[in-house]
Amino acid sequence: MKSSTGHWVVGDDFFDREGELKVLESRVRDGNHLVMTGQRRMGKTSILRELGRRLKRKGWVFLFADVEADRDEEDVITSLAKACHPVTPITSRLMRGMRRRLWTLAGKVDKISAHQFAVRFRAGLDSGNWRRHGEDLIAHCAGHDQPVLIVIDEVPIFLVRLLDQEDGARRVDEFLSWLRAVFQTGDDRLPTLIVSGSIGLAPLVERLGISDRVNYLDSIRLGPWSLEVSVRCLEALMKNYDLSADDGVARAVYEHLGTGVPQYVQSFFARLRDHVRMHDRARIVLDDVAEVYRTGLLGPSGQNDLAHYEARLRDGLGDVDPAMGLPWKSSPKRPYRVPSRPKQAVNWSRGIPGSCRTPRDWSPKRSPSWSMTSISNPIRTATASG
Ligand SMILES: Nc1ncnc2c1ncn2[C@@H]1O[C@H](COP(=O)(O)OP(=O)(O)O)[C@@H](O)[C@H]1O
Ligand SMILES: [Mg+2]
Repeated sequence: MKSSTGHWVVGDDFFDREGELKVLESRVRDGNHLVMTGQRRMGKTSILRELGRRLKRKGWVFLFADVEADRDEEDVITSLAKACHPVTPITSRLMRGMRRRLWTLAGKVDKISAHQFAVRFRAGLDSGNWRRHGEDLIAHCAGHDQPVLIVIDEVPIFLVRLLDQEDGARRVDEFLSWLRAVFQTGDDRLPTLIVSGSIGLAPLVERLGISDRVNYLDSIRLGPWSLEVSVRCLEALMKNYDLSADDGVARAVYEHLGTGVPQYVQSFFARLRDHVRMHDRARIVLDDVAEVYRTGLLGPSGQNDLAHYEARLRDGLGDVDPAMGLPWKSSPKRPYRVPSRPKQAVNWSRGIPGSCRTPRDWSPKRSPSWSMTSISNPIRTATASG
């Protein structure tokens, strides 16, 4: 297992989450559409990509579209189409449906890169036809001879961006209504859909008074690793880099963080490793933990993450687990005709994670690592490992 501090991880670099993966896989196999939320850096993208990797080995098609940077509905459909690119039969059908621009290339999918394909596909979309092409895409997936899982990552960020544009609330409503309609045709060959994001879909739709647009999605919240999993992860990392440690070092790392957010655990390890290297040692002692926490994680570089998180909250809707001790204030329900600015929804006076607060202060000590609820009807709750 390699040390990783930025990018999502899969395969040998993906640690644990076995219980969560089992639950996810069985939900997907049953054809349930899901929405996954969880604090940034909790490992949402990693677990969804790992799920896709495992399902692919079992004969599934896995389509992953990150819509964080997408600006409009056409971009989202293009991201989905681009995700289809490696699946030649689906891409060929998509190309035939694009008439002049792409159909001549339909027999030569391997001659056109995913990027070229996406550029040409996007050029054929406009506000009048994205729905039809999106429906075709889903229909081609349904007609494919392998089961298909579609993950659309960072959907709430895209929706907030849409909301900020002219007529945004209506467009958010239309997009979500459209998505619900295409995934609720009752056809049991339909692909399974998972949407995910660090800020919640629920507060956004509640605010707009359109909660029913997402009530077909079962909500799953990804929480931090437990002490035991965090300790095992740190031990695996130390083993991989031939480092030894005093008794209690891994536990001390967790206790300093006060949480098992995977990225923080990884980040702490990376800094400890740098620290002992600088001192020409291959053994981590307990004092190193305190020192690295003070100088590395609480120092200027360690604050980057928190500042970024703060910015994302400001852009978003403050859907943060109350157990995190972060600002939490859902705004009153309003019909979407009344324009409302997400930025005003967050109660900043209660403090934000930033220079004055440390990861230790906003740890989710008592939050479950894993929970499943239905957005509209939060009755079902299950816990798995961790
Ligand atoms: N299962 C895991 N095993 C090892 N590291 C993980 C795992 N999940 C997350 N991480 C760490 O957290 C970082 C952020 O993961 P990511 O999946 O991008 O989180 P999110 O999508 O929730 O923001 C990764 O770069 C990695 O360091
Ligand atoms: Mg992510």
